[in-house]
Amino acid sequence: MIFLSSLNKKYLQSKICLLRVDLNIQNADLFKKNIHPRVSAVLPTIKFLIKNGAKVIILSHRGRPKETKNHKEFSLRPFAKIFSKLLGKKIVFSDFKKISGIVSVSGPGSVFLLENLRFWPEEEQNNPKFAEKLASLGDFYVNDAFAVSHRKNASVAVITRFLPGYAGLLLEKEIKNLSAVTKNPKRPMTVILGGAKISDKIGVIENLYSQADYFLLGGALANTVFAAQGIPVGDSLYEKNIDVDGIMRRFGKKIFLPEDVVVEKRKILDIGQASVKKYKSIIGKSKTIVFNGPMGYIEKPKFAKATKEIIAALLKSRSQIIIGGGETASVMPNIKSLRQNIFLSTGGGAMLEYLSGKKLPGFAALDKIHEQQ
Ligand code: 3PG
Repeated sequence: MIFLSSLNKKYLQSKICLLRVDLNIQNADLFKKNIHPRVSAVLPTIKFLIKNGAKVIILSHRGRPKETKNHKEFSLRPFAKIFSKLLGKKIVFSDFKKISGIVSVSGPGSVFLLENLRFWPEEEQNNPKFAEKLASLGDFYVNDAFAVSHRKNASVAVITRFLPGYAGLLLEKEIKNLSAVTKNPKRPMTVILGGAKISDKIGVIENLYSQADYFLLGGALANTVFAAQGIPVGDSLYEKNIDVDGIMRRFGKKIFLPEDVVVEKRKILDIGQASVKKYKSIIGKSKTIVFNGPMGYIEKPKFAKATKEIIAALLKSRSQIIIGGGETASVMPNIKSLRQNIFLSTGGGAMLEYLSGKKLPGFAALDKIHEQQ
């Protein structure tokens, strides 16, 4: 994998860069007072490319348009305004047909934004013809979309068959921070896992088991363990057909479950205060901490209490901390800059797959490892 930061800057001058980013942000999170972390995270790469005279075509997906009829809510158009404001220059939003004409007559440092790639079904099919068409718009490709690098999509995977591909500044930062956890973490190391499904997270427990000292579970993930152990969970969300006995036999020694929970209408919707206290005491003695997935149903503020308290404890800690998971941004407090020891990963599923030790398709593409289509 070649990093954009390592290239000779002269190479970038007047070249057209296809910059794949992840702007998969719902309207409800996008128009808040703070800049969304996924937006601010890609600004350094865009600025770097502009500064060095490249023309930039920003590519992204947004949502899962094939699951709905209302495509409009997934348009990337609002981002043109957001980036224009943040970069202090006009970002041109364009469709496929017109873009190459406009780019060819533009000057170095111009920035363009293409419509949501998932409006073309070929994107999610990893279709080589579609990727080739995309690739024909630029001279080189940069992947700065860590959060979607676990998807075998045309603009993430097969595209590097058709033009040189590099890892952007954000991707480089994600790799540096996440590999510190998988390779040689300072101990004790604690992994806090919440969210809906334990099946998504078993790989992380398995891969990090030998390095980690504590796995603290919350969210519906813990309900799955409770249900399998015969503890009544009422109408709570949990997964069936999971070999919880097997998980607990192999990893139970290091797994901690909530001691108390918050219940409403027969549903477990958050972990309780005794559990928060216990988890905070483990956080206090840890030197490396990974957090992925909320402890409760954070869509409702009253059930975001435990998650917020745990995040507050993490933000105060001096340990090496990685916070990830798509939803986390919505409960992060309003802080201008995070301390050096804290890394906010832009990845949800991608972070989990990386921490599970899997080779992400987006990374394989940058290493030019292509399966036969
Ligand atoms: C994410 O938000 O996790 C990524 O953009 C991937 O989105 P997807 O799960 O819809 O592929």
